[in-house]
Amino acid sequence: MRAVTQTAPGGPETLAVTELPDPVPGPGEVLLDVAATAVNRADLLQRQGFYPPPPGASDVIGLECSGTVAALGEGVTDLAVGDEVCALLAGGGYASRVAVPAGQVMALPAGVDLVTAAALPEVACTVWSNVFMVAGLRPGDVFLVHGGGGGIGTFAIQLAAASGARVFTTAGSEDKLARCRELGAEVAINYREDDFVDVVRRATDGRGADVVLDNMGAKYLSRNVDVLADEGRLVVIGMQGGTKAELDIARLLAKRGAVIATALRSRPLDGKARICASVVEHVWPLVADGTIRPVVSAVLPLEEVGEAHRMIESGEAVGKVLLTP
Ligand SMILES: NC(=O)c1ccc[n+]([C@@H]2O[C@H](COP(=O)([O-])OP(=O)(O)OC[C@H]3O[C@@H](n4cnc5c(N)ncnc54)[C@H](OP(=O)(O)O)[C@@H]3O)[C@@H](O)[C@H]2O)c1
Repeated sequence: MRAVTQTAPGGPETLAVTELPDPVPGPGEVLLDVAATAVNRADLLQRQGFYPPPPGASDVIGLECSGTVAALGEGVTDLAVGDEVCALLAGGGYASRVAVPAGQVMALPAGVDLVTAAALPEVACTVWSNVFMVAGLRPGDVFLVHGGGGGIGTFAIQLAAASGARVFTTAGSEDKLARCRELGAEVAINYREDDFVDVVRRATDGRGADVVLDNMGAKYLSRNVDVLADEGRLVVIGMQGGTKAELDIARLLAKRGAVIATALRSRPLDGKARICASVVEHVWPLVADGTIRPVVSAVLPLEEVGEAHRMIESGEAVGKVLLTP
Protein backbone atom coordinates (compact mmCIF):
# COMPACT_ATOMS: atom_id res chain seq x y z
CA MET A 1 0.00 0.00 0.00
CA ARG A 2 0.96 3.67 -0.23
CA ALA A 3 1.40 5.33 3.15
CA VAL A 4 2.80 8.47 4.74
CA THR A 5 5.96 7.75 6.73
CA GLN A 6 8.67 9.77 8.46
CA THR A 7 12.36 9.15 8.90
CA ALA A 8 12.46 11.29 12.06
CA PRO A 9 10.03 13.46 14.06
CA GLY A 10 9.88 17.08 12.92
CA GLY A 11 8.04 19.57 10.73
CA PRO A 12 5.63 18.93 7.84
CA GLU A 13 8.62 18.47 5.51
CA THR A 14 9.47 15.18 7.26
CA LEU A 15 6.31 13.53 5.90
CA ALA A 16 6.59 11.54 2.67
CA VAL A 17 4.53 8.95 0.79
CA THR A 18 6.23 5.56 0.49
CA GLU A 19 5.31 1.90 -0.08
CA LEU A 20 4.57 -0.33 2.93
CA PRO A 21 3.22 -3.90 3.18
CA ASP A 22 -0.59 -4.11 3.27
CA PRO A 23 -1.99 -4.50 6.80
CA VAL A 24 -3.59 -7.87 7.51
CA PRO A 25 -6.96 -7.71 9.30
CA GLY A 26 -6.86 -9.71 12.54
CA PRO A 27 -9.83 -11.45 14.16
CA GLY A 28 -12.71 -8.98 14.49
CA GLU A 29 -11.09 -6.49 12.09
CA VAL A 30 -11.75 -5.44 8.51
CA LEU A 31 -9.40 -4.19 5.81
CA LEU A 32 -10.47 -0.95 4.13
CA ASP A 33 -9.41 0.54 0.80
CA VAL A 34 -9.12 4.14 1.95
CA ALA A 35 -11.02 6.76 -0.08
CA ALA A 36 -9.98 9.68 2.15
CA THR A 37 -8.52 10.44 5.55
CA ALA A 38 -8.49 13.69 7.55
CA VAL A 39 -5.87 15.67 9.44
CA ASN A 40 -6.44 16.00 13.17
CA ARG A 41 -4.56 18.28 15.54
CA ALA A 42 -3.26 15.18 17.37
CA ASP A 43 -1.55 14.19 14.09
CA LEU A 44 0.63 17.30 14.33
CA LEU A 45 1.79 16.22 17.79
CA GLN A 46 2.46 12.67 16.58
CA ARG A 47 4.48 14.08 13.67
CA GLN A 48 6.58 16.07 16.16
CA GLY A 49 7.18 12.95 18.26
CA PHE A 50 5.00 14.01 21.21
CA TYR A 51 2.02 11.67 20.79
CA PRO A 52 3.11 8.09 20.11
CA PRO A 53 0.47 5.61 18.94
CA PRO A 54 -1.11 3.46 21.68
CA PRO A 55 0.24 -0.12 21.99
CA GLY A 56 -0.76 -2.26 19.02
CA ALA A 57 -1.75 0.68 16.79
CA SER A 58 -0.13 1.38 13.42
CA ASP A 59 2.91 3.74 13.35
CA VAL A 60 1.32 5.44 10.35
CA ILE A 61 -0.46 8.68 11.35
CA GLY A 62 -4.22 9.03 10.80
CA LEU A 63 -7.19 8.74 13.16
CA GLU A 64 -10.09 8.42 10.74
CA CYS A 65 -10.98 7.51 7.18
CA SER A 66 -13.68 6.63 4.73
CA GLY A 67 -13.39 3.76 2.28
CA THR A 68 -14.58 0.42 0.93
CA VAL A 69 -14.39 -2.90 2.77
CA ALA A 70 -11.70 -4.96 0.97
CA ALA A 71 -11.46 -8.02 3.24
CA LEU A 72 -12.97 -9.38 6.44
CA GLY A 73 -11.01 -10.74 9.39
CA GLU A 74 -12.12 -13.86 11.24
CA GLY A 75 -15.50 -13.57 12.95
CA VAL A 76 -16.74 -10.40 11.22
CA THR A 77 -20.28 -11.07 10.05
CA ASP A 78 -22.04 -7.71 9.97
CA LEU A 79 -20.02 -6.17 7.14
CA ALA A 80 -19.40 -7.33 3.56
CA VAL A 81 -16.65 -6.79 0.99
CA GLY A 82 -17.64 -3.76 -1.09
CA ASP A 83 -19.49 -1.90 1.70
CA GLU A 84 -18.82 1.84 1.68
CA VAL A 85 -18.11 2.99 5.23
CA CYS A 86 -16.21 5.42 7.44
CA ALA A 87 -14.14 4.50 10.48
CA LEU A 88 -12.57 5.74 13.68
CA LEU A 89 -8.92 4.60 13.83
CA ALA A 90 -6.23 4.38 16.51
CA GLY A 91 -3.76 5.09 13.67
CA GLY A 92 -2.91 4.13 10.10
CA GLY A 93 -5.30 6.41 8.21
CA TYR A 94 -2.70 8.20 6.04
CA ALA A 95 -2.49 5.21 3.69
CA SER A 96 -4.28 3.54 0.81
CA ARG A 97 -5.26 0.60 3.06
CA VAL A 98 -5.94 0.25 6.78
CA ALA A 99 -7.10 -2.50 9.15
CA VAL A 100 -9.66 -1.48 11.78
CA PRO A 101 -11.77 -3.22 14.44
CA ALA A 102 -15.25 -3.82 13.01
CA GLY A 103 -16.87 -2.01 15.97
CA GLN A 104 -15.24 1.24 14.81
CA VAL A 105 -16.60 0.96 11.29
CA MET A 106 -19.75 2.99 10.63
CA ALA A 107 -22.18 3.05 7.73
CA LEU A 108 -22.11 6.30 5.76
CA PRO A 109 -24.83 8.76 6.72
CA ALA A 110 -27.32 8.91 3.82
CA GLY A 111 -26.50 11.60 1.28
CA VAL A 112 -22.82 12.04 2.22
CA ASP A 113 -20.33 11.10 -0.50
CA LEU A 114 -17.53 8.66 0.27
CA VAL A 115 -14.68 11.22 0.33
CA THR A 116 -16.54 13.78 2.45
CA ALA A 117 -17.45 11.06 4.97
CA ALA A 118 -13.79 11.03 6.08
CA ALA A 119 -14.48 14.38 7.78
CA LEU A 120 -16.96 12.83 10.21
CA PRO A 121 -15.73 9.99 12.47
CA GLU A 122 -13.41 11.93 14.83
CA VAL A 123 -15.60 15.00 15.24
CA ALA A 124 -18.87 13.09 15.51
CA CYS A 125 -17.50 10.54 18.02
CA THR A 126 -15.67 13.18 20.08
CA VAL A 127 -18.51 15.67 20.23
CA TRP A 128 -21.30 13.14 20.75
CA SER A 129 -19.44 11.17 23.43
CA ASN A 130 -18.25 14.19 25.41
CA VAL A 131 -21.06 16.70 25.08
CA PHE A 132 -24.00 14.29 25.20
CA MET A 133 -22.91 10.89 26.63
CA VAL A 134 -20.56 12.36 29.28
CA ALA A 135 -21.78 15.91 29.95
CA GLY A 136 -25.47 15.27 29.26
CA LEU A 137 -26.30 18.50 27.37
CA ARG A 138 -30.06 19.09 27.38
CA PRO A 139 -32.41 21.30 25.32
CA GLY A 140 -32.34 24.85 26.68
CA ASP A 141 -28.88 24.40 28.27
CA VAL A 142 -26.17 26.96 27.63
CA PHE A 143 -23.26 25.37 25.74
CA LEU A 144 -19.84 26.96 25.20
CA VAL A 145 -17.37 25.40 22.76
CA HIS A 146 -13.92 26.90 22.32
CA GLY A 147 -12.27 26.93 18.90
CA GLY A 148 -15.59 27.10 17.05
CA GLY A 149 -13.93 27.38 13.63
CA GLY A 150 -12.00 24.11 13.96
CA GLY A 151 -13.03 20.58 13.07
CA ILE A 152 -14.47 19.85 16.50
CA GLY A 153 -15.94 23.33 16.89
CA THR A 154 -17.81 23.43 13.57
CA PHE A 155 -19.42 20.07 14.36
CA ALA A 156 -20.13 20.83 18.03
CA ILE A 157 -21.90 24.09 17.18
CA GLN A 158 -24.23 22.32 14.74
CA LEU A 159 -24.96 19.30 16.94
CA ALA A 160 -25.58 21.34 20.08
CA ALA A 161 -27.79 23.84 18.22
CA ALA A 162 -29.77 20.94 16.70
CA SER A 163 -30.34 19.55 20.20
CA GLY A 164 -31.99 22.80 21.29
CA ALA A 165 -29.10 24.20 23.36
CA ARG A 166 -28.05 27.86 23.29
CA VAL A 167 -24.61 27.85 21.67
CA PHE A 168 -21.71 30.16 22.50
CA THR A 169 -18.30 29.81 20.92
CA THR A 170 -14.85 31.40 20.69
CA ALA A 171 -12.66 31.96 17.63
CA GLY A 172 -9.76 34.20 16.67
CA SER A 173 -10.78 35.81 13.36
CA GLU A 174 -13.81 37.61 11.93
CA ASP A 175 -14.05 35.05 9.13
CA LYS A 176 -14.30 32.15 11.59
CA LEU A 177 -16.69 34.05 13.85
CA ALA A 178 -19.03 34.62 10.90
CA ARG A 179 -18.89 30.91 9.94
CA CYS A 180 -19.66 29.94 13.54
CA ARG A 181 -22.79 32.12 13.50
CA GLU A 182 -23.88 30.61 10.15
CA LEU A 183 -23.50 27.15 11.69
CA GLY A 184 -25.85 28.00 14.57
CA ALA A 185 -23.87 29.81 17.26
CA GLU A 186 -26.05 32.40 19.00
CA VAL A 187 -22.95 34.28 20.13
CA ALA A 188 -19.45 34.00 18.63
CA ILE A 189 -16.76 35.64 20.75
CA ASN A 190 -13.44 36.93 19.43
CA TYR A 191 -11.08 35.58 22.09
CA ARG A 192 -8.43 38.11 21.04
CA GLU A 193 -10.71 41.03 21.94
CA ASP A 194 -13.29 39.93 24.49
CA ASP A 195 -13.36 37.93 27.71
CA PHE A 196 -15.63 34.95 27.08
CA VAL A 197 -16.57 34.78 30.78
CA ASP A 198 -18.04 38.29 30.67
CA VAL A 199 -19.82 37.74 27.36
CA VAL A 200 -21.46 34.44 28.36
CA ARG A 201 -22.47 35.72 31.80
CA ARG A 202 -23.99 38.90 30.36
CA ALA A 203 -25.95 37.01 27.72
CA THR A 204 -27.30 34.50 30.26
CA ASP A 205 -28.29 36.90 33.08
CA GLY A 206 -25.31 35.77 35.13
CA ARG A 207 -26.07 32.05 34.86
CA GLY A 208 -23.07 30.95 32.79
CA ALA A 209 -22.59 27.76 30.76
CA ASP A 210 -24.06 24.38 31.69
CA VAL A 211 -21.52 22.57 29.51
CA VAL A 212 -18.13 23.77 28.23
CA LEU A 213 -16.16 21.81 25.61
CA ASP A 214 -12.56 22.99 25.83
CA ASN A 215 -9.59 22.63 23.46
CA MET A 216 -7.18 24.86 25.39
CA GLY A 217 -6.51 22.99 28.64
CA ALA A 218 -4.32 24.86 31.15
CA LYS A 219 -4.64 28.32 29.63
CA TYR A 220 -8.45 28.39 29.98
CA LEU A 221 -8.94 26.22 33.11
CA SER A 222 -9.49 29.04 35.56
CA ARG A 223 -11.79 31.05 33.27
CA ASN A 224 -13.68 27.91 32.24
CA VAL A 225 -14.46 27.23 35.90
CA ASP A 226 -15.54 30.88 36.24
CA VAL A 227 -17.92 30.60 33.31
CA LEU A 228 -19.61 27.39 34.54
CA ALA A 229 -23.20 27.61 35.74
CA ASP A 230 -24.21 25.86 38.96
CA GLU A 231 -23.82 22.10 38.39
CA GLY A 232 -22.02 22.88 35.12
CA ARG A 233 -19.68 20.40 33.43
CA LEU A 234 -16.36 21.38 31.88
CA VAL A 235 -15.03 18.74 29.48
CA VAL A 236 -11.40 19.25 28.50
CA ILE A 237 -10.40 17.45 25.31
CA GLY A 238 -7.42 19.50 24.10
CA MET A 239 -4.19 20.89 25.47
CA GLN A 240 -3.44 23.63 22.94
CA GLY A 241 -2.84 25.98 25.90
CA GLY A 242 -0.73 23.60 28.02
CA THR A 243 -1.28 20.78 30.48
CA LYS A 244 -0.65 22.21 33.95
CA ALA A 245 -2.68 24.87 35.75
CA GLU A 246 -4.01 25.64 39.20
CA LEU A 247 -7.62 24.67 39.99
CA ASP A 248 -9.50 26.70 42.61
CA ILE A 249 -11.49 23.89 44.23
CA ALA A 250 -13.47 26.32 46.37
CA ARG A 251 -14.92 27.97 43.25
CA LEU A 252 -15.76 24.62 41.70
CA LEU A 253 -17.23 23.27 44.92
CA ALA A 254 -19.47 26.30 45.41
CA LYS A 255 -20.97 25.62 41.98
CA ARG A 256 -21.13 21.84 42.50
CA GLY A 257 -19.27 21.76 39.19
CA ALA A 258 -17.37 19.01 37.41
CA VAL A 259 -14.13 19.04 35.47
CA ILE A 260 -13.73 16.04 33.18
CA ALA A 261 -10.93 15.23 30.73
CA THR A 262 -11.15 12.51 28.11
CA ALA A 263 -9.25 11.03 25.18
CA LEU A 264 -10.93 9.01 22.45
CA ARG A 265 -7.84 7.33 20.97
CA SER A 266 -6.77 5.45 24.10
CA ARG A 267 -10.24 4.21 25.10
CA PRO A 268 -10.74 0.43 25.19
CA LEU A 269 -12.18 -1.12 22.01
CA ASP A 270 -15.60 -1.83 23.54
CA GLY A 271 -15.91 1.81 24.60
CA LYS A 272 -15.10 3.02 21.10
CA ALA A 273 -17.57 0.54 19.59
CA ARG A 274 -20.31 1.81 21.92
CA ILE A 275 -19.61 5.41 20.92
CA CYS A 276 -19.62 4.54 17.20
CA ALA A 277 -22.94 2.69 17.51
CA SER A 278 -24.45 5.60 19.43
CA VAL A 279 -23.23 8.07 16.80
CA VAL A 280 -24.82 6.03 14.00
CA GLU A 281 -28.09 5.92 15.95
CA HIS A 282 -28.29 9.51 17.19
CA VAL A 283 -26.06 11.68 14.99
CA TRP A 284 -26.21 10.20 11.49
CA PRO A 285 -29.94 10.96 11.07
CA LEU A 286 -29.15 14.65 11.61
CA VAL A 287 -26.41 14.49 8.98
CA ALA A 288 -28.67 12.57 6.60
CA ASP A 289 -31.46 15.17 6.80
CA GLY A 290 -29.02 18.08 6.32
CA THR A 291 -29.35 19.52 9.85
CA ILE A 292 -25.60 18.97 10.28
CA ARG A 293 -23.23 19.44 7.36
CA PRO A 294 -19.63 18.24 7.26
CA VAL A 295 -17.40 21.35 7.07
CA VAL A 296 -14.45 20.69 4.75
CA SER A 297 -11.88 23.39 3.98
CA ALA A 298 -9.80 21.46 1.45
CA VAL A 299 -9.30 18.05 -0.14
CA LEU A 300 -5.66 17.40 -1.08
CA PRO A 301 -3.87 14.38 -2.56
CA LEU A 302 -1.92 12.30 0.00
CA GLU A 303 1.35 13.62 -1.49
CA GLU A 304 0.41 17.09 -0.18
CA VAL A 305 0.22 15.87 3.41
CA GLY A 306 2.80 18.49 4.49
CA GLU A 307 0.65 21.32 3.14
CA ALA A 308 -2.43 19.80 4.83
CA HIS A 309 -0.56 19.84 8.18
CA ARG A 310 0.51 23.42 7.60
CA MET A 311 -3.11 24.47 6.96
CA ILE A 312 -4.27 22.97 10.28
CA GLU A 313 -1.20 24.19 12.21
CA SER A 314 -1.57 27.80 11.01
CA GLY A 315 -5.26 27.87 11.94
CA GLU A 316 -6.24 29.00 8.41
CA ALA A 317 -8.53 26.00 7.80
CA VAL A 318 -12.17 26.23 8.79
CA GLY A 319 -13.37 22.73 9.67
CA LYS A 320 -11.52 19.73 8.25
CA VAL A 321 -8.72 19.16 5.73
CA LEU A 322 -8.98 15.83 3.88
CA LEU A 323 -6.34 13.75 2.09
CA THR A 324 -7.04 11.28 -0.71
CA PRO A 325 -4.55 8.43 -1.31
N1 LIG B 1 -9.53 14.21 23.59
C1 LIG B 1 -9.99 13.75 22.45
O1 LIG B 1 -10.49 12.65 22.36
C2 LIG B 1 -9.94 14.62 21.23
C3 LIG B 1 -10.48 14.21 20.01
C4 LIG B 1 -10.44 15.10 18.91
C5 LIG B 1 -9.84 16.35 19.09
N2 LIG B 1 -9.28 16.68 20.28
C6 LIG B 1 -8.65 17.99 20.51
O2 LIG B 1 -9.64 18.97 20.34
C7 LIG B 1 -9.03 20.18 19.88
C8 LIG B 1 -9.74 20.64 18.63
O3 LIG B 1 -9.52 19.69 17.59
P1 LIG B 1 -9.78 20.09 16.10
O4 LIG B 1 -9.63 18.87 15.28
O5 LIG B 1 -11.02 20.88 16.01
O6 LIG B 1 -8.55 21.06 15.81
P2 LIG B 1 -8.48 22.29 14.80
O7 LIG B 1 -9.36 22.02 13.64
O8 LIG B 1 -7.04 22.56 14.62
O9 LIG B 1 -9.17 23.47 15.64
C9 LIG B 1 -8.57 24.05 16.74
C10 LIG B 1 -9.07 25.49 16.80
O10 LIG B 1 -8.59 26.12 17.98
C11 LIG B 1 -8.64 27.49 17.72
N3 LIG B 1 -7.88 28.23 18.74
C12 LIG B 1 -6.55 28.48 18.80
N4 LIG B 1 -6.28 29.20 19.88
C13 LIG B 1 -7.44 29.43 20.54
C14 LIG B 1 -7.80 30.11 21.72
N5 LIG B 1 -6.88 30.74 22.48
N6 LIG B 1 -9.10 30.12 22.10
C15 LIG B 1 -10.04 29.48 21.37
N7 LIG B 1 -9.74 28.82 20.23
C16 LIG B 1 -8.47 28.79 19.82
C17 LIG B 1 -8.11 27.62 16.30
O11 LIG B 1 -8.68 28.68 15.58
P3 LIG B 1 -8.54 30.25 15.71
O12 LIG B 1 -7.51 30.55 16.75
O13 LIG B 1 -8.12 30.74 14.35
O14 LIG B 1 -9.92 30.66 16.04
C18 LIG B 1 -8.64 26.34 15.64
O15 LIG B 1 -9.78 26.58 14.83
C19 LIG B 1 -7.56 19.85 19.62
O16 LIG B 1 -6.81 20.29 20.72
C20 LIG B 1 -7.55 18.34 19.52
O17 LIG B 1 -6.33 17.78 19.87
C21 LIG B 1 -9.33 15.84 21.34
